Amino acid sequence: EQGKEFLRTLSSPYVLKADGLAAGKGVLILDDLNQAEKELEDMLKNEKFGEASSKVVIEEFLSGIECSVFVLTDGDNYVLLPEAKDYKRIGEGDTGLNTGGMGSISPVPFCNEEFMQKVKTNIIERTIQGLKAENINYQGFIFFGLMNVGGDPYVIEYNVRMGDPESESVFARFDSDIVEAFTLVKDKRLKEYNININPLTATTVMLCSGGYPESYEKNKVISGLDNTFDAIIYHAGTKENADNQIVTSGGRVLAVTCLGEKIQDALDKCYKTIENISFDK
Ligand code: GLY
Repeated sequence: EQGKEFLRTLSSPYVLKADGLAAGKGVLILDDLNQAEKELEDMLKNEKFGEASSKVVIEEFLSGIECSVFVLTDGDNYVLLPEAKDYKRIGEGDTGLNTGGMGSISPVPFCNEEFMQKVKTNIIERTIQGLKAENINYQGFIFFGLMNVGGDPYVIEYNVRMGDPESESVFARFDSDIVEAFTLVKDKRLKEYNININPLTATTVMLCSGGYPESYEKNKVISGLDNTFDAIIYHAGTKENADNQIVTSGGRVLAVTCLGEKIQDALDKCYKTIENISFDK
């Protein structure tokens, strides 16, 4: 009843989210209040999503575009890393099933100075102050999954790690010594760190096994890995077989990252590189 009462204070659309793990299926977006009340009851009382919906989060509906922002913090200070945007759908033009990530870009064109200033002031700094206020001595990466809603940043999720496939693009633009940063984090002296970011654009394109994100075959020999130029090839789902060949061993096999003046320049380089690499399906 309390949940329904709260729903009545909101305006449509209503977002109901099973608080437990529901294989990415536990979110309902509903236009109609009566339907939202009924679904809430179904989730809480009738286990619509099993144990996952024994607790339900009622969220504000956000319409915008997502981006990922990263910081490294020693608990007091932080360094802002290049922001990135990942693309999660399998198909061309951002269509089809969700994946672990098909590619990324950095920087993100809509993360302009004004937007990033809001991110720093309203989100990053308040998060770090909040951790301190709760006596959480956190030293490491914080990943802010954000939504740009009409120029204002909203937090979708936090992770205490970097992102994949964002990292591939982020670190391609990193022109400083990351090990020095880690040492300064450990010693709580991160404010002494000077970060240099390459102004070029990085793009990452993931090469996947045929069938992914559904069932796929493994152990396909990968050829052409030595025949690449001006690209970083990150190995994700690969391994070396008994004959010392590099073979596929996962759905997302290789991430190809290139730098260019513009997104299209970097992407062209990625796809040119990919033409030289092959494996069955
Ligand atoms: N690319 C999203 C994540 O790493 O969670």
